[in-house]
Amino acid sequence: MSKKKQNYFVCSECGYESTKWFAKCPSCNEWNTAVEFTADIFDNKVKSTPSEILFLTDNIKEPKKINTGFKELNEILYGGFVEGAIYLLAGEPGIGKSTFLTQISSNVSQKNFVIYVSGEESAEQVFQRFKRLNVKSDKNKIGLVFENSLEKIVALLENLEEKPDFLIIDSIQTIKSDNFSSYAGSVLQVKEVTRYLSEYCKKRGITLIIVGHVTKGGIIAGPKILEHMVDAVLQFELEKTSGLRMMRILKNRYGPTDEILMFEMTQKGLKPISEYTHYFLKDYKNASGNVLTIVKEGSKLIPIEIQALVSKPVYGNPRRVTSGAPLDRLLMIIAVLSKRLRLPIESKDIFLSTSGGFKISDTSSDLAIAYALLSSLFDITTNESIVVLGEIGLDGNIRNIRDLEKRIDFAKKLGVENIVIPTSKIAATNTLKISNLSSLVKKFF
Ligand code: TYD
Ligand code: MG
Repeated sequence: MSKKKQNYFVCSECGYESTKWFAKCPSCNEWNTAVEFTADIFDNKVKSTPSEILFLTDNIKEPKKINTGFKELNEILYGGFVEGAIYLLAGEPGIGKSTFLTQISSNVSQKNFVIYVSGEESAEQVFQRFKRLNVKSDKNKIGLVFENSLEKIVALLENLEEKPDFLIIDSIQTIKSDNFSSYAGSVLQVKEVTRYLSEYCKKRGITLIIVGHVTKGGIIAGPKILEHMVDAVLQFELEKTSGLRMMRILKNRYGPTDEILMFEMTQKGLKPISEYTHYFLKDYKNASGNVLTIVKEGSKLIPIEIQALVSKPVYGNPRRVTSGAPLDRLLMIIAVLSKRLRLPIESKDIFLSTSGGFKISDTSSDLAIAYALLSSLFDITTNESIVVLGEIGLDGNIRNIRDLEKRIDFAKKLGVENIVIPTSKIAATNTLKISNLSSLVKKFF
């Protein structure tokens, strides 16, 4: 087999590859991100064995599921970690990834052999964490490796008498292949190390868990491309009001995505939380500009406080600042209030936040945002707390939202007796049905 050299370029932001140089990346639109690499190209005259064909009548073996030790996580992953699958555990430094994987190692090592590779902490730090979390591994079912070289890790795996069932890499940004000159953590290294380990583990039925650090902006450091290379992405985020660690399932080949699990960081590591409501409402006060709504994340209903402050602009151009709520949604709601109700809101400074900066992604809290804006604009509040639910159309009409009845029941369980909802056929007590924004204004302001 002959080989020749080929130069190619990789975008350092998103990992886009091209044989031609580019000034602006066609994939992520960033400028000056092309980094040059050289790869060996093999000619194609090699004789290979033909691939296999399967028929629907053939018996396919179901892959083994491994109990994670966390009931809720097992449910989302449809029974547990899938043997031979590749998982990415992402999150900002300090959020609890290593803690979580120490607990996972402990849980799965009851029946499995785990190799835990730490590329960023000293043996003392890692041993201390295992001790602190009270992990006992009498039968040497957890092997700890302190290494940054991919080739050395692979050589070690090859030399083991017993094949490991789990390989944990903490973190992918610290592992480097000697085949490439670029530094550990670069897009190319992260991509190549992940590609190599994925192939290696898939072939041998080893379940691979890769830790990936996330930058403050929420992007998995360097390569978003990692997400494409793994079977499931579990991302830890800190919810600031409650201090809870939210685990979002961003990708899942074996079950539902957009699910969310909540953990509390304790002296004994991460503890799953099933009763989470009071964590989100502990700072809530019924004051002007404040209102409650209920958002849905995966299968969970979460009570969220929305706060708005509408004030006279200090500088010439009015400012719009949001935390948690999407800015484009706020701009749309301001435009509708201004155009449909002729309210003097467009000239004002507007600040909008959710409790703890909780990211809301659905449109079911539109009406609550409008309510909070109006409540601050007119400086009027209700005597008792209310929950507001509904989406706003560009015409100012209020649209229905999914799972309205479940959200109403949830609000009642919180003890809130006044619930504003879109006009619908639902017969529920203590609800006020609103069909458009002007009826909201007439009713409350
Ligand atoms: P860590 O798991 O090291 O975070 P990451 O790997 O994501 O960088 O731990 C984060 C923090 O958690 C650290 O400041 C110490 C704290 N911690 C606890 O509060 N309880 C514990 O049982 C452990 C092990 C850590
Ligand atoms: Mg860590």
